[in-house]
Amino acid sequence: MLPSKASLKPDIKYAYCTCGLSVTFPMCEGSYRGTDKTPIKFSVGIKTDKWLCRCGHSGRKPYCDGSHQQGAIQE
Ligand code: FES
Repeated sequence: MLPSKASLKPDIKYAYCTCGLSVTFPMCEGSYRGTDKTPIKFSVGIKTDKWLCRCGHSGRKPYCDGSHQQGAIQE
């Protein structure tokens, strides 16, 4: 699964989905409630575009670290 580009703004608290149930994935919309997962909360200092992980394998979530390419090579 490829990352998704997000235009992020400062002074907004974002929540990154870790349960995989969100209909706004990779952003959290509360579907984790009732599971043992919790979203990763994050913010940025300046207006910026970032690639958000959608494969679940990034070592620096919520951001993509290129790990999705490893999976593609091994599959
Ligand atoms: S989408 Fe790139 S590491 Fe997950």
